[in-house]
Amino acid sequence: MSFNVEEIRAQFPALKQEVNGRPLVYLDSAATTQKPQAVIDAIVHYYQHDNANVHRAAHALSGRATSAFEDSRRVTAEFLGCANPAQIIWVRGVTEAINLVAASWGRSNLAAGDKVLVSAMEHHSDIVPWQLICAERGAEVIPVPVTDDGEIDLQALEALLDEHVKMVAVNHVSNALGTINPVQEIAAKAHAVGALCMVDGAQAIAHWPLDVQQLGCDFYAFSGHKLFGPTGIGVLWGREALLEAMPPFLGGGEMIDRVSFDGTTFNRLPFKFEAGTPNIAGVIGLGAAVRWVQGLDRGSAEEHEQLLLRRCDELAESVRGLRRLGPERNRVGVFSFLLEGTHPEDLGTLLDQQGIAIRTGHHCAQPLMSRFEVPGTARASFSLYNTMDDVEALFAGLAKIQEFFA
Ligand code: ALA
Repeated sequence: MSFNVEEIRAQFPALKQEVNGRPLVYLDSAATTQKPQAVIDAIVHYYQHDNANVHRAAHALSGRATSAFEDSRRVTAEFLGCANPAQIIWVRGVTEAINLVAASWGRSNLAAGDKVLVSAMEHHSDIVPWQLICAERGAEVIPVPVTDDGEIDLQALEALLDEHVKMVAVNHVSNALGTINPVQEIAAKAHAVGALCMVDGAQAIAHWPLDVQQLGCDFYAFSGHKLFGPTGIGVLWGREALLEAMPPFLGGGEMIDRVSFDGTTFNRLPFKFEAGTPNIAGVIGLGAAVRWVQGLDRGSAEEHEQLLLRRCDELAESVRGLRRLGPERNRVGVFSFLLEGTHPEDLGTLLDQQGIAIRTGHHCAQPLMSRFEVPGTARASFSLYNTMDDVEALFAGLAKIQEFFA
C-alpha cells in the first residue's frame, strides 16, 4: 500500500484534460474532490444492472440494490470507527445533517435563555441552521472568537461556557483557512458544562483517518463529494441514545412503523431519519469512495499533502504583496491568500485562463471574512492527487499575473 501520486492521479479521469489550452491544475478540492474511476464505475454499475428501490420489494433487483445500499452503510460505519451502522444516517450532505440536528434535537432541547456556541470560522451551514432554531426557541447563537492566527480562541471559548450552553458546534477543519481545530478538547470542554458538541467534518474527512469515539463528540457529519464520492449524499453520525431520543426530521415513507389517523409510530434507527426514496446511487458511490480511501496508505497521503502545503508557504514568502490567512502549522489542504493590487475574483479568472482552478470569494464564511476585514480570499486547496508541479504552476501563474499588472 505505498503512496505513488502518479498512480493515484491515473485513477481520476477528470484530471487528464486541458483547460484553456493548458493541462488542468485542479486546486479546488475543498469545494469538491474529483472522483476516481472506481466510484464512477460503482454508480454506472448500479444504474446498468441493479437499479431498483431499496427496502421495498421482493424482486431480485431490489434485493441487490438494498444489499449494496446497506453494505455502504456498514463500510462507512467502520470507516468512522462506529460499531453500529444504525448510527449512520444518510443525508444530502453536512448542510442537511446540521439542519437535521438543529431542527430535531434543537426543537426538543433548546429553550428561552439557552445558548448555542459556534466558532466565528464556521461555514454558513454551521451558523444559519442554529440561528433559525434559536430564533424559534428564544435561544441565542454566540460566536466564539478566532485569533489573529486563524485558530479558535480556546480561552474565549472557556469563558463563554456556562450551564446555559446546550450545544457547541465547530468544524474539524476550516474550509476558508484550513485550520485543524482541536475538536477532542472542545468536545471535552462542552461536556464539562453539560453541553453537546457537533462537529462539521466536511473538510477533514479526506485528509486523515478518524474515529468518532476517540474524538468524543456527540454528532459528526461529512459530505460524500469531499471524500471522492458523489454530490448529494452525506453522513450524519450521532450517539445512539441521542438519535433514539430525537423526533423525526422529515416525515414520509420508510421513516414510519405504522401510520394511522389515530397516531403514527416511527421506524427504528437509522430509518426514522430517512424519509422517502433515498439517493441510492449516491450511497453506493459513497461506499465505493470509502473503500477506495481504505485501500490507500493514508499516512503517506497525509504526508504528501503536508509537503505540498509547506512548499506553497515557502514559495509564497518570495511573492511581493502576498498575504496568507490561517495558521502556519495545524493546517491541512488549504492555502488562502490575497495579492496586493488584485481582487481575488480577478485572480481566479486570470488563473483559470492558465488552466489553474481555484476558488475565490467569501467561501460561505462571511463572519470570518469580516473578522479579518477582507472581502474574500483566493483559495487554492489540495488533495492527495495534487503534485509539486501543481504547486509550482500556481506560483508561476501568480508571477505572470503580477507581471501583467506591473
Ligand atoms: N464548502 C465548500 C467550499 O468551501 C463548497 O468551497
